[in-house]
Amino acid sequence: ENHQQKDEPLKGKKVLISAGPTREVLDPVRFFSNRSSGKMGFALADAAAELGAEVTVVAGPTDVQLEYARIKRVDVVSAEDMYTAIHEEFPHSDIVIKAAAVADYRPKQTFTEKMKKTGSDLLVEMERTKDILKSLGEEKSNQFLVGFAAETQTPLEYGKGKLEKKKLDAIVINNVAVDGAGFAGDTNIVTYLNKSLQQENLPLASKKDIAKKLWEFIIRDMKDENK
Ligand code: CTP
Ligand code: CA
Repeated sequence: ENHQQKDEPLKGKKVLISAGPTREVLDPVRFFSNRSSGKMGFALADAAAELGAEVTVVAGPTDVQLEYARIKRVDVVSAEDMYTAIHEEFPHSDIVIKAAAVADYRPKQTFTEKMKKTGSDLLVEMERTKDILKSLGEEKSNQFLVGFAAETQTPLEYGKGKLEKKKLDAIVINNVAVDGAGFAGDTNIVTYLNKSLQQENLPLASKKDIAKKLWEFIIRDMKDENK
């Protein structure tokens, strides 16, 4: 094995990562979103760049910064924007990781003027967004496709269900109810599960260290699939 392969195992690979939350607008001053910080996805992007990959990040609204200036960053707001941006990049990507916390619902109606309060309750009707990851699973040709799962109960069971339903090569399961894991912090606790149901448990560690480990598993599994 030559020097370059050893240090840059992702050289020549195009990596596409989604990160952060999405925002679903209700009116000019209000939106629905979630607690995702973007840190896990950005750590995966930086780690991929360090391993020699050509990286594109499609990011929802986040204050987190990428370390590598050569990573291409596409900023989006809503789930629909993310769907469009991801599908534009998908056909010429080799590895795709969907770390973003995409809104499942958005307000059915958005208002161009600020809504005024009334004396009665407010019922906001919500409609489903598109499942981006599922659409990639259906469209994929040779891409290695990795999803995330955020769960608060029976994470392995739900995670395995998502792996199968969305036709993924692997899934990273997050138990967001556990201290030290999940959305906002600098640390995480995850389980990596590939489609052969080989399972790797990563105990509490920084998101940066977890990202490096996840890349080891992805590179191993891609070799097994001759990708
Ligand atoms: N995902 C997506 N588009 C959506 C919703 C989710 O691409 N509209 C992706 C996420 O980026 C993640 C994976 O699907 O990689 C799982 O997201 P998660 O919210 O855990 O699962 P859901 O399938 O949305 O199911 P639920 O929220 O009901 O558990
Ligand atoms: Ca969801």
